[in-house]
Amino acid sequence: MAGKRTFTMIKPDAVAAGNTGAIIQMIEERGFKIISMKLTRLTGERAGEFYEVHKERPFYNDLCKYMSSGSIVPMILEKENAVEDFRTLIGATNPAEAAEGTIRNLFANSIEANAIHGSDSDDNAQIEGNFFFSAIEKY
Ligand code: CMP
Repeated sequence: MAGKRTFTMIKPDAVAAGNTGAIIQMIEERGFKIISMKLTRLTGERAGEFYEVHKERPFYNDLCKYMSSGSIVPMILEKENAVEDFRTLIGATNPAEAAEGTIRNLFANSIEANAIHGSDSDDNAQIEGNFFFSAIEKY
């Protein structure tokens, strides 16, 4: 059965461009409830841990450098069918392929600086939420 929670983070390009508020508005208007949220920053090492599944990919080092280049806004979100519905809202990884009206279509600059992350499964949503938030922050 599909879970009710997903994890997202607004990435450094979107935070630096002043798009945090507009993105959060889209998320709330689509019916997601914000359970946890903070403005924070990753070190290169922490970014490497978060994206460890991609460590054999050619873009891994650049991705870690980019993800630690500025502030990010991680969030845990709640809604029925959260993971799938959120991935529909953000659009394809490559903004050139993201459907019209999706967050990446509106705000992303490139396949790397693509404005926002969304978990790809219920299990990863839990792992990724735990990476940023303690039990009391996910209540
Ligand atoms: P995200 O959904 O956070 O998951 C992994 C990230 O790696 C992805 O968004 C992009 O930011 C980045 N990424 C994926 N594919 C590529 C690629 N081909 N080149 C550069 N970065 C990529």
